[in-house]
Amino acid sequence: MKVGVFDSGIGGLTVVKSLLEHQLFEEIIYFGDTARVPYGSKDKNTIIRYAIEAVEFFKNFKLDLIIVACNTVSAYALSEMQESASCPVIGVVEAGVLATSNAIKDKEANILIIGTNATINSKAYENGLSAMAFTQLTAKATPLFVPLVEETLFTGKILEATLEHYFKELKTPNAVILGCTHFPLITDAIASYFGESTKLIHSGDAIVELLEHRFDFYKRYAKPKLKFFASENPEALRKIAQEWLDV
Ligand code: DGL
Repeated sequence: MKVGVFDSGIGGLTVVKSLLEHQLFEEIIYFGDTARVPYGSKDKNTIIRYAIEAVEFFKNFKLDLIIVACNTVSAYALSEMQESASCPVIGVVEAGVLATSNAIKDKEANILIIGTNATINSKAYENGLSAMAFTQLTAKATPLFVPLVEETLFTGKILEATLEHYFKELKTPNAVILGCTHFPLITDAIASYFGESTKLIHSGDAIVELLEHRFDFYKRYAKPKLKFFASENPEALRKIAQEWLDV
């Protein structure tokens, strides 16, 4: 199995980390559109155009599957990517909805969805969760977390002030959907803000759950081949990948 993983930038490496932990693929080809990140502040047509260009890039490799690690792209451009790709394309929104419904049995549980402005405006998670009969949904755009993660501010005063800024008026949720590639890197801070009773839904783990639910994996690959591509400064992406993924 050869998989392509697409993100607007480096954040999708959090999904690659989950794939590596579960050893599902023989080869992982990562493409981050680092020249044009962030997507979360762009409009629908632009996001779709960039996403289709990513599919064209992936046509250079004979892929069995494309995983859209970017929540913003999954929210706006998944069906367009599926139409133009010659292999299946799956995205983190569908995966996150499925993982939430597996983890949370009470349909009246309080679920908080956080993501970029574009993801939240799309209502993609809310629509998916409503279709699963969840009724208590709160969606909040938390775009400041993206540059904080890019600056590797995973702890400290600025992050704490930002958590307070976004969450101080919210009731403690039963679950939080980390609806942005970058947010798994601040899981500890979010978890300690809300406390142990709040379950966090991570896109990478959710994708693994969706893959195992939908596809048969006969083999595990101890050391998948990894290739990293970026539309700008691929060396910087490879360096971050080495650090984050320990490869
Ligand atoms: N990858 C994006 C997402 O998951 C976050 C960064 C961006 O805005 O492009 O929504």
